[in-house]
Amino acid sequence: MSALLEVRNMEVVYQDVILVLRGVSLDVPEGAIVSLLGANGAGKSTTMKAISGLLASELGRVTHGEIRFAGHRIDQLKPQERVRLGIAHVIEGRRVLEQLTVEENLRAGGLGAARGPEARRRLDRVYAYFPLLKALRRAVSGYCSGGEQQMLVIGRALMSAPRLLLLDEPSLGLSPLLAGEVFRTVQGVSRAEKLSVLLVE
Ligand SMILES: Nc1ncnc2c1ncn2[C@@H]1O[C@H](COP(=O)(O)OP(=O)(O)OP(=O)(O)O)[C@@H](O)[C@H]1O
Ligand SMILES: [Mg+2]
Repeated sequence: MSALLEVRNMEVVYQDVILVLRGVSLDVPEGAIVSLLGANGAGKSTTMKAISGLLASELGRVTHGEIRFAGHRIDQLKPQERVRLGIAHVIEGRRVLEQLTVEENLRAGGLGAARGPEARRRLDRVYAYFPLLKALRRAVSGYCSGGEQQMLVIGRALMSAPRLLLLDEPSLGLSPLLAGEVFRTVQGVSRAEKLSVLLVE
């Protein structure tokens, strides 16, 4: 059985000249949580952006190797096509849509299912995992605490019903207690939904 995500011998270049990654290979099996380790500037976020397709918006390109997801070659697909296949990327830095409420942020993550019964079902599932978000659903997200915003961006990613979650430094700036809580919730979702997670701590 091949893994859900397979990265093979990948090379990434920014702006056609800056070689950042070479010969990167990794597997994320179905339902597994895989942690990516490395020093600052080693290329962890770049690896995640290559997988989600966000690299293009930073003038980066996969110039060698391949990325396969659920058997499909995905490294030339647009980011939105990868989301539809089931890849959700929580980028570094808790980027909430500050002017919108918690629930509006969540709905924004629902793709075509922003309204209607499917959106409701996904919202309820996110609220079950993060009860705090339910209590805060009418709060303006820009005023939420760092931990609340981290839960929100993870919840928003879950709204696209992903099979693979890319989580970039979710505990940055959180207390160890809160970071532990966020991680345990992610672990719970992974078990319950057979969600695969690629994590940078
Ligand atoms: N948009 C970009 N254009 C050019 N170079 C970049 C760009 N983004 C990142 N880099 C360079 O690529 C290298 C890897 O950066 P990356 O952010 O992937 O590392 P990281 O492992 O996530 O680091 P950190 O632990 O600090 O988050 C660094 O040398 C960085 O300066
Ligand atoms: Mg990084």
